[in-house]
Amino acid sequence: MEREALLHTSSSPKNSELSSPTKRPSKSLLIIFALTNVAFLICFSKIKFSTGGTEVTKIARPEVIVKVPTEISTTSTALSSTSQFISSTNAPAPRSPENKIFPQNSTDCPYEQWNQVRTDFIPNMNFHKKLSKKWKSDFKYLYHTLPSAGAAFVHEDQIVVTLTAENQVDDTVYCRYYDCRRREIMDPFKSTIFPRCTVFCPRRPGTKFITISKDLNETLEYSIPIVPRLEKPPHYFTVCMATLYGDEPKFLQIVDFIEYHKLQGATFFHIYLRNVSDYDRVLLDNYVKTGDIELITLQDHFWRADYMWHHGQINDCHHRSKHFSKWTALIDIDERLEMKSDKFKTVVDYLDSIQDDSISSLRFRVKWVMKHNYTPARYENETQLQSEMIFHKYQNTSQLGRERDQPKCIIRPENVAMMSIHGPKDMYKGKKKIVVPEDTGFIRHYRNVENKIFAHGYKKMMSHAPFNISPIDHDIDKDLSKKIMDRVKWTYEIVQPTCEQKAKMYRVESTSPPCNNETKNLN
Ligand SMILES: *[C@@H]1O[C@H](CO)[C@@H](O)[C@H](O)[C@H]1NC(C)=O
Ligand SMILES: *[C@@H]1O[C@H](CO)[C@@H](O)[C@H](O)[C@H]1NC(C)=O
Ligand SMILES: *[C@@H]1O[C@H](CO)[C@@H](O)[C@H](O)[C@H]1NC(C)=O
Ligand SMILES: *[C@@H]1O[C@H](CO)[C@@H](O)[C@H](O)[C@H]1NC(C)=O
Ligand SMILES: *[C@@H]1O[C@H](CO)[C@@H](O)[C@H](O)[C@H]1NC(C)=O
Repeated sequence: MEREALLHTSSSPKNSELSSPTKRPSKSLLIIFALTNVAFLICFSKIKFSTGGTEVTKIARPEVIVKVPTEISTTSTALSSTSQFISSTNAPAPRSPENKIFPQNSTDCPYEQWNQVRTDFIPNMNFHKKLSKKWKSDFKYLYHTLPSAGAAFVHEDQIVVTLTAENQVDDTVYCRYYDCRRREIMDPFKSTIFPRCTVFCPRRPGTKFITISKDLNETLEYSIPIVPRLEKPPHYFTVCMATLYGDEPKFLQIVDFIEYHKLQGATFFHIYLRNVSDYDRVLLDNYVKTGDIELITLQDHFWRADYMWHHGQINDCHHRSKHFSKWTALIDIDERLEMKSDKFKTVVDYLDSIQDDSISSLRFRVKWVMKHNYTPARYENETQLQSEMIFHKYQNTSQLGRERDQPKCIIRPENVAMMSIHGPKDMYKGKKKIVVPEDTGFIRHYRNVENKIFAHGYKKMMSHAPFNISPIDHDIDKDLSKKIMDRVKWTYEIVQPTCEQKAKMYRVESTSPPCNNETKNLN
């Protein structure tokens, strides 16, 4: 029962959270009682209860205490609160029934109907085994020594755990379950890491947290919450944005990406964050507040370079989008899904035309756009923003790439068994894909030509010459410019009172900075 005994303790991840099944009451409190009045000690020591086999002493409830005849000292706070209990019982007040929506006591977990399910096997197990043979030795890199659970999603028949370690594919691991108070539910399950950095776990009633361990005697990493994916998918079309990192300022590209794809019909964005400037982060947090995006911060206990998060990010967003959205695009901050058809004005118009469950991926080929500079670090004024918008500033566009030239996909997440950066590797069902025709749509991919490009990237891009000036659709340009402007100004143009007004407010709080340049900049 006691995990400590089994744990290998020399490794660094903390496991104290995992080892104490129940909070123990302070022993010193009991000693004070003992010294003050022997009757109390007897009373308390009798009150024990059992939690999952562990005996725990707990402070008695008031109705037990009042039975003890005693003289009350008022010097101890513990005792004076006891005296209140006594006086209230002398004049009994009618008890109002307790609201049953709360746990009934400090060790209970709330009862949840949806979470009473136990399953014993993993769906598609044999298919996964086949795939793992087929895609053998595909990805063995990085140096993680632990699985590092990153996120977990509970479906009706299983819990999907995405790991951030990517070097342990096909390894045997254990699903470890925890209840609402992070007490381990002693019913682990032996599973396998596949595909790449995914572990499928069966369900256990009452599970609220989960972690993955390499062995039953292995150090446990921190457990993570399971996120329900049990309802009808709330979205029709969502977008995953690959990891943000690097020193190029990003606020303008982020607002462009989000507002542009909203115009295409996307209603939610999963955005993966490694590092952006504090200024850019303000915008991301603003979008979190308005419920447009979820921000997934990528970080674990082991080293890797920023760009090495890409595969894990794709895998996570694939699973994150299952039972969340009918269609999901997996693209980068510098890519835009563009429609080029009179029939389908937006991406969702096009998706509406595909009412066929045998089709699960739409492959968009790429046109590259040369981008010569970084986008600005801060918003200055409307003129600056208008001219810096990337679709205004950069329009020199290549020919359409071939299907194998780094295409990007919109997928039906549940149908995909295994996802890669450029498209599904294998499917559960709906095996057909559509290579989107040139006159329907493509990906506009902005490419930094002076900075931040892999050596072979430039050559590859230039192989798609000739380049021609090709702006985005005029109506979208107009809508998008306004939406970007509004959002940026709303986020960064903080309404400033006069310097005198600020000084006055400070005086209300009894501080009185002078009305000078410094005050002008106080926010
Ligand atoms: C809390 O409630 C559970 C179940 O209702 C019960 O088994 C347990 O003894 C209770 N604990 C306390 C301290 O009342
Ligand atoms: C756990 O047990 C396995 C054998 O079952 C052993 O090989 C391994 O060294 C043990 N690990 C630790 C951390 O004790
Ligand atoms: C994060 O990004 C900011 C701004 O680009 C940069 O100043 C900082 O050094 C970066 N931090 C890390 C840990 O990469
Ligand atoms: C707008 O900001 C730019 C700097 O990005 C500056 O050069 C220009 O003078 C500003 N224009 C106005 C009207 O303030
Ligand atoms: C577009 O790029 C091509 C290839 O580098 C170049 O020859 C051409 O001059 C560019 N067009 C414009 C308008 O800048």
